[in-house]
Amino acid sequence: MNLEGKRILVTGSSRGIGHAIAMECAARGATLVVHGPEVDDELTQSFAKVSALSPSSIQVTAELSDPTAIAALFDTVHEQLGGIDALVNNAACQNEYGVLDLPQEDWDRIMAVNLRAPFLCAQHAGRHWAAEAKGGSIVNISSVHAQQPRRNFTHYSTSKGGLEQLTRCLALELGEHQIRANSIVVGAIASELTPKERCDAFATAIPMGRVGWPEEIAKTAAFLCSDDSYYMTGASITVDGGLTLGFCASRKDL
Ligand SMILES: NC(=O)c1ccc[n+]([C@@H]2O[C@H](COP(=O)([O-])OP(=O)(O)OC[C@H]3O[C@@H](n4cnc5c(N)ncnc54)[C@H](O)[C@@H]3O)[C@@H](O)[C@H]2O)c1
Repeated sequence: MNLEGKRILVTGSSRGIGHAIAMECAARGATLVVHGPEVDDELTQSFAKVSALSPSSIQVTAELSDPTAIAALFDTVHEQLGGIDALVNNAACQNEYGVLDLPQEDWDRIMAVNLRAPFLCAQHAGRHWAAEAKGGSIVNISSVHAQQPRRNFTHYSTSKGGLEQLTRCLALELGEHQIRANSIVVGAIASELTPKERCDAFATAIPMGRVGWPEEIAKTAAFLCSDDSYYMTGASITVDGGLTLGFCASRKDL
């Protein structure tokens, strides 16, 4: 997979899966837009590692719940790089509430960051790609909870279900512009979002017997950004160690 000449924006690439995707793409020759909500140690360190592999890369900040900040992010990217060739909608947030206790503000914030922001980013990128008639690739980082509801994560699960359908709608409408949209259905991955105790609990339900590493998602993301996946659109690729094979798959006694 050669990504030379590709300019790739990875939202939420200051740490975790987003950082791993940025590193994988940088190692394959891409110029990266490394993004975080603000300039902090995480973003600074992530950018230093990415730009050591890909010196033409840039660092940007935007709070993704704010549509104005998203528009400014794309303006900055166009000023500094002249545009992008692939967009990875990776940033997301979550917190834990039962349905009956979930405050509306938390529902609204999670929908804004996990679903509205990917839509707005796809719209900004898509408008440029369509105007320039040069095509592009959108990769949405989804979750097994798009399909499988998770107790106390109604807002997060619903946002990821929406992201899956957004992927298919983008693929349908933008295919004529050679703009592709695919998603990666991510299983349990060791990161800030899934701390060690949770990883251990998840491992018992995963046929491969362990959670995944961010780098194991990054390779699939790089593939979907690359021309090697050129005829793929509207697809969801599951990378979960077998987590979604079902209850019986994780139980040797059944
Ligand atoms: N870790 C897992 O087990 C797992 C499982 C399924 C899906 N995913 C998905 O993978 C993606 C990455 O997850 P991760 O585990 O690396 O998470 P993480 O929390 O480690 O990283 C999230 C990134 O998004 C950024 N971000 C969060 N809220 C933001 C906001 N309001 N504005 C701007 N940036 C914001 C963070 O700064 C960070 O860079 C997410 O879409 C997540 O839903 C993760």
